[in-house]
Amino acid sequence: MRFPYNEKVLEHFKNPRNVGKIENPDGKAMVGSPACGDMVAVYLKVDESTHKIQDVKFESYGCASNIATGSIITELAKGKTIDEAKEISWQQASDELGGLPKIKAHCSVLAVEGLREAITNYEERHGLIKEKAPTTVDVIKRRLKSVMNPLSGLDIVRTNLLKDVQVNDGVVSIAIDLPENHIFATNIREEIQEKIETLWDVKEVRLTFAESV
Ligand code: FES
Repeated sequence: MRFPYNEKVLEHFKNPRNVGKIENPDGKAMVGSPACGDMVAVYLKVDESTHKIQDVKFESYGCASNIATGSIITELAKGKTIDEAKEISWQQASDELGGLPKIKAHCSVLAVEGLREAITNYEERHGLIKEKAPTTVDVIKRRLKSVMNPLSGLDIVRTNLLKDVQVNDGVVSIAIDLPENHIFATNIREEIQEKIETLWDVKEVRLTFAESV
């Protein structure tokens, strides 16, 4: 069988750079693709005084295009400031790789989004967000679209695990339609906390699950 990938893509797929996890990262993100349901996680170590990316690693549950893109963008991002790294685009990643099949564009978008979200997470944790728009129910729902429902491999919004969201005076209340003793409840709880509590005007996140069964 002939692969629709060029040599460079195959080389990065077979020997991806910067694969893995960083313990106690300064910024991190896990994002899922609405197109295919695959996921990618990105971890950052950033120099606090220069805001330069000292180390970056990724884990991918995506396809060869996604892994090759994760490999190339982490190479591109290393040593750059967070502002410079935010400018890395999926088109640039694809060009660096000598081109990806059009049908695989969403795979590079996913990797690039992972990097950008990890940078945003760093900025939020360090009070560096410049545009401070108030947190609304829509903002919360958008964020929760990147929390995965491990039962299906899709996000908790699309799979209707998210029952209710309310935002009142900095307190975000979220109801999840899963028994609180469910095997995945702790995972989901932690992921939601991580995604929401870094928002600049959020004082508290209150999570409720359905009754145990
Ligand atoms: Fe899902 Fe490529 S098909 S990341």
